[in-house]
Amino acid sequence: MVNLKVKLGALELNNPVTVASGTYGFGLEYADFYDPGKLGAIFTKGITFKPRHGNPPPRLWETPSGILNSIGLENPGVEAFVNEYLPRVKGLGTAIIPNISGSTVEEYCQVAEHLNGKEGIAALEVNISCPNVKEGGMAFGSCPNVAANVVKEVKKVTNLPLIVKLSPNVTDIAAVARAVEEQGADALSLINTLLGMAIDIRTQRPALGNIMGGLSGPAVKPVAVRMVWQASQAVKIPIVGMGGINSWQDAVEFMLAGAHAVCIGTGNFAKPMVAVEVIEGIERYCKERNISNVTELTGRAWK
Ligand SMILES: Cc1cc2nc3c(=O)[nH]c(=O)nc-3n(C[C@H](O)[C@H](O)[C@H](O)COP(=O)(O)O)c2cc1C
Repeated sequence: MVNLKVKLGALELNNPVTVASGTYGFGLEYADFYDPGKLGAIFTKGITFKPRHGNPPPRLWETPSGILNSIGLENPGVEAFVNEYLPRVKGLGTAIIPNISGSTVEEYCQVAEHLNGKEGIAALEVNISCPNVKEGGMAFGSCPNVAANVVKEVKKVTNLPLIVKLSPNVTDIAAVARAVEEQGADALSLINTLLGMAIDIRTQRPALGNIMGGLSGPAVKPVAVRMVWQASQAVKIPIVGMGGINSWQDAVEFMLAGAHAVCIGTGNFAKPMVAVEVIEGIERYCKERNISNVTELTGRAWK
């Protein structure tokens, strides 16, 4: 038997395989394919205080090895999340982790405060890294001081563990990781999407309505592995690694680089069953190597 349980601070997950914010809706969309309770956790679509319509279409564009998206945090707002979605997902048998965003530090705090004490929420993922919203998101994650300040203020209004989601659109990921750890982040998740763009040669115009968007999928994996490697060596708090995970082999690679858990995003779109395959594959990999505890994989490549 392989013990697949992993800890993200005080939060214990049944296994290290989770699904990424924005690629798994509010937790019910894949239930026709498999029991979402098999997952280590579900990171739900990003929510803001008020509902958002998101960016003008087109909002998705396929590239040779990934996708560009500029959804712009379309969501029904925190009130609707609590009233309409949370009651349906909280009984799924896995940790539910809402992903929260804001245009100002105050808005992050309003969302966090609203979710504090609501039954069925295991932790909050604080998105300081969205490249698709004009006035915020990535701006909070690009500078260590600003990132640290969001964490400091959100910590004041919630008792929930905070998993802070970092942007890859920075020169020194370790500096941002250390800054948010110092302010009490319980864990980090990385990476969010890489800023990119495409031109549609038929119209001779930018392919996305918002012109630029976030690149995800296999194309970003080497960047993500490098950043997980750097961030996990810079901090003591656990890391949830993501970016282009499409198979159990990819997931093992992230854990060897220093991730305690992994998140599957774009991979869900192409292979709806991928998360279950990844859980089974990691277990097999450990068994074949007489690894009794999956946590032994974390950071093994450092040695
Ligand atoms: C369509 C789409 C929507 C996303 N929405 C969010 C979001 O609301 N909040 C967030 O923190 N990340 C969001 N992300 C980023 C993913 O959670 C993930 O960090 C990124 O896609 C890298 O992982 P992947 O290559 O496995 O997709 C979104 C990604 C995609 C593709």
